[in-house]
Amino acid sequence: MPKVTFVTPQGKHIEVVAQLGETLLELAHRSNIDIEGACEGCLACSTCHVIVAADDYDRLPEPSEDEEDMLDLAFGLTPTSRLGCQIVVTEEIDGLVVNLPTEVHNMMA
Ligand code: FES
Repeated sequence: MPKVTFVTPQGKHIEVVAQLGETLLELAHRSNIDIEGACEGCLACSTCHVIVAADDYDRLPEPSEDEEDMLDLAFGLTPTSRLGCQIVVTEEIDGLVVNLPTEVHNMMA
């Protein structure tokens, strides 16, 4: 099973075992990792914003246009930002490192 490491804003590394087909958001929630995901994966918020490690970014499929539009609204956007609800776990992402941003912009609050 692929493993994913989440890095909290405080610098804590949390390695979790992912299940194929789930999203990073689902994985984080299942693992009690603090990603909000206000719209539960409907691409209607940007609170599932994660920052993928630069070395890992190109291993992921390209974001869709809808994801990019929503990412534009994310607080603290970086060149390797993605939405956690749009990254689906595959064998290829084994070893992925994603950083949790310090703040998210919740438009749904
Ligand atoms: Fe809202 Fe990902 S949970 S866009």
